[in-house]
Amino acid sequence: MSDRSQLLATGKSFAFDAETDAEFERLAARYPIRESMIMPALWLAQQQQGWISAETIEYVAERVGTYPAKVFELATFYTMYHLRPVGTYHICVCRTLSCYLRDKQEIVDFLADEAGIRPGQVSDDGRFSLEEVECLGHCGSAPVVQINGEFYEDMNVEKLRALLTTLA
Ligand code: FES
Repeated sequence: MSDRSQLLATGKSFAFDAETDAEFERLAARYPIRESMIMPALWLAQQQQGWISAETIEYVAERVGTYPAKVFELATFYTMYHLRPVGTYHICVCRTLSCYLRDKQEIVDFLADEAGIRPGQVSDDGRFSLEEVECLGHCGSAPVVQINGEFYEDMNVEKLRALLTTLA
């Protein structure tokens, strides 16, 4: 599992581009308390940059008018926020009980063999990254894999191998 308590600093400041800034302001108008925009702002930042850096945390805190520690707490709690650069295809494997009991480890081991990645790593060619996450909410069809936000249920090694060949 990746270490979610350590942020990476890029040494470069972060700021929303014009399009993202406009979307931020559009959403912010819906919230009577600007601090409530922490999670949407983190999401917008991730859509723009691909991941959340230490500088992103500082920027979001400034934009929503709060402390960086509050932004840090949310960014590190929710695995939907990437705290490291991820691959073109970010693969999340659920590790919670139903998926654990239905052999999620076979999928994790397959990805180590096939793509050379362990949880928290990006493949050498940058195509794939892997993360083990808590329950994805589809426990009845475990084991569950999520790739770039798309859910794949009742997965096994054969299905995943076939799926990976369809990814450009
Ligand atoms: S336990 Fe895996 S989706 Fe809920």
